[in-house]
Amino acid sequence: MKLPLFNSCQLSRVFIVLAVLLPLWLSSSIMRGNSSSFQRERSRGRSQKKAAPPKKPKIDYTKFSHQTHVVSQKLACDSCHKVPAKNWNVVRTGEKAFHDVTDFPEHASCLNCHREQFFARERPAPSICSNCHIAVRPKDTTRWVFPSLGDLSDPKLKRREFISEFAVAFPHDKHIDVVGSFSRDRQSFIAVSFQEKKTPASCAVCHATYQPQGNSNEEYVTKPPKDLGDNFWLKKGTFKTIPNSHTTCFTCHNADSGIAPEPKTCNVCHKLLSSENKLPADFDPTLPTRMAITDRYVLLRWPQRFYAGAFRHEAGLHTEISCLNCHDAANATFSTTNPKTLKVPIKSCGGEEGCHITQTLDDGGALNFEIDQRKKDPKFVCTKCHITFGTLPTPDGHAKALPTPKPKVNPAE
Ligand code: HEC
Ligand code: HEC
Ligand code: HEC
Ligand code: HEC
Ligand code: HEC
Ligand code: HEC
Ligand code: HEC
Ligand code: HEC
Repeated sequence: MKLPLFNSCQLSRVFIVLAVLLPLWLSSSIMRGNSSSFQRERSRGRSQKKAAPPKKPKIDYTKFSHQTHVVSQKLACDSCHKVPAKNWNVVRTGEKAFHDVTDFPEHASCLNCHREQFFARERPAPSICSNCHIAVRPKDTTRWVFPSLGDLSDPKLKRREFISEFAVAFPHDKHIDVVGSFSRDRQSFIAVSFQEKKTPASCAVCHATYQPQGNSNEEYVTKPPKDLGDNFWLKKGTFKTIPNSHTTCFTCHNADSGIAPEPKTCNVCHKLLSSENKLPADFDPTLPTRMAITDRYVLLRWPQRFYAGAFRHEAGLHTEISCLNCHDAANATFSTTNPKTLKVPIKSCGGEEGCHITQTLDDGGALNFEIDQRKKDPKFVCTKCHITFGTLPTPDGHAKALPTPKPKVNPAE
């Protein structure tokens, strides 16, 4: 009997080898340590092939979705994700290693429901494998780096591009007094108390200026055109970093400390994104190409600037103003899963000294200037703080933020 699969591919020797040996190798690897079910699987796989497959809507098994598994199938996170994963002390070693979720879920967490997909006759390998593996060939079964290992910097590690289905819930207000200065040995946090007006020491533990210009003469991230003039080009030190791993969190939140949430309760810190998170961003998707920006962090963060896309942290007085002057992080309403609560109020552009919002137009405030220009010319584009929002109508809040002119004193009264 010829299997239909063989007819379609011009019985060359290579293909016989591939077609016969690869499935054998795959199934034995998938079921390693469980040879009886491996036998069962092969015969089942074959008898299913004979029957004409029922017409079902095509499902893309290269794209795992938590919506399907967590919401529809109601599976708990720890039914798939294990802490610690088997390789926890291989990916990080010595002092740096700690109980972490450092690898993809194992085959066992899928097989009960996906035998058919795991043993599908697809070349070069069943499509479902690609959710975790870069390749599944006899000599190469490498997996992607599990994305929670964002702090590993080895350039040889292969990272899969993906858009996260989650937002991270970090209650800032509960941590401001707890997270003090962080020392590298992961044991000692020095508690600091939060003083108003001053930047709490804790902010810098998790947020640093990304690729600062420092003392360098190179102001821009990439080389701007010679005729740039006053036009916008991305400068160094624009962004702040955000944590990219569990290293800081699990120093305090681990099975021994008893400080909830424990590592295995993934869902306390990771919340499936809701439509609330889909705000329009002050971002132009053609900019990175035009500016030849390839940096992964910039490509990830820039489209998430929902308010003032051109703002640079490392500019002028910005480094001297308390973070809390612009970010309401000490307030319980500041929620990292809801970007509407993360709005930087326009008033903060005025600062203590009136910087960009001045008493009068003549005092040089950028907001005063741009609102005035817009009044004169409806086509005027506001570029001081914005990338794309500068073409939209001026929000009411902007005009209201300007100081009301002092009322004229009426001599009759
Ligand atoms: C049915 C098994 C399964 C369950 C249940 C599951 N995951 Fe996953 N998770 C996976 C697989 C497989 C991947 C890798 C594929 C991918 O990135 O989509 C993954 C990737 C992730 C990622 C990185 C990708 C992303 O979208 O950010 C996060 C974060 C994550 N899981 C968190 C969770 C949380 C939180 C829960 C519980 C609410 C959960 N997972 C439940 C299987 C599962
Ligand atoms: C409790 C049963 C169950 C478990 C366990 C399970 N799945 Fe699924 N999965 C489903 C169902 C049901 C669907 C919907 C499509 C279908 O019927 O195949 C699905 C769909 C998928 C899809 C198609 C895209 C999507 O998510 O909608 C992928 C890929 C997938 N699963 C991968 C996995 C992987 C990898 C694991 C193990 C880490 C896993 N599943 C564990 C039941 C399960
Ligand atoms: C949900 C993620 C996931 C999917 C999907 C998946 N694998 Fe794996 N695979 C793993 C993990 C994790 C290991 C390591 C398990 C261990 O160390 O015990 C592994 C190990 C293996 C190994 C053993 C090699 C080694 O490093 O020890 C082979 C072979 C393999 N997988 C093949 C496949 C094939 C073929 C498919 C598709 C039919 C597949 N895998 C789908 C996660 C996955
Ligand atoms: C223990 C680590 C930690 C500390 C300390 C911390 N943050 Fe955060 N911060 C986070 C995490 C995690 C997020 C969510 C990141 C994400 O969206 O993935 C976040 C998000 C933010 C955001 C929103 C970023 C955005 O998406 O636009 C701002 C603003 C912020 N933090 C400011 C502060 C300020 C100000 C302080 C000091 C009072 C501070 N953070 C202290 C971990 C920390
Ligand atoms: C003068 C106001 C101002 C000050 C001071 C300030 N920020 Fe920001 N920050 C912003 C603006 C504006 C954004 C962009 C917000 C947006 O558009 O979503 C931002 C964005 C962020 C982000 C998200 C990542 C990014 O760069 O887009 C983090 C994290 C953050 N700030 C942390 C801090 C921390 C920590 C401090 C103190 C060390 C600080 N900021 C000081 C105004 C400020
Ligand atoms: C210095 C130790 C420390 C670090 C580091 C730390 N936490 Fe916490 N976390 C705590 C403490 C203590 C509490 C309890 C605070 C309270 O209830 O007032 C807490 C509470 C929480 C809660 C709220 C639990 C609840 O029941 O409401 C979440 C969520 C959380 N932390 C997430 C994180 C994340 C995410 C990180 C890393 C970005 C992190 N924590 C880093 C000490 C820490
Ligand atoms: C104490 C809070 C906390 C717990 C518990 C937690 N995480 Fe995380 N996780 C974080 C923070 C903070 C980050 C880094 C911020 C980010 O990537 O946006 C992160 C990052 C990740 C990433 C990388 C996501 C990305 O978009 O690059 C994955 C994958 C992940 N976690 C999976 C898990 C899984 C699976 C569990 C449960 C076994 C878990 N986490 C438990 C706080 C937590
Ligand atoms: C000094 C910096 C600055 C200048 C100048 C400025 N903006 Fe803004 N803009 C902000 C900040 C900060 C926010 C977020 C806070 C807010 O919405 O009030 C914002 C928000 C916006 C939004 C989004 C409103 C929303 O709620 O989503 C639009 C649209 C906008 N600005 C248009 C303009 C226009 C048009 C001008 C010129 C007349 C202008 N801006 C000038 C800083 C500035």
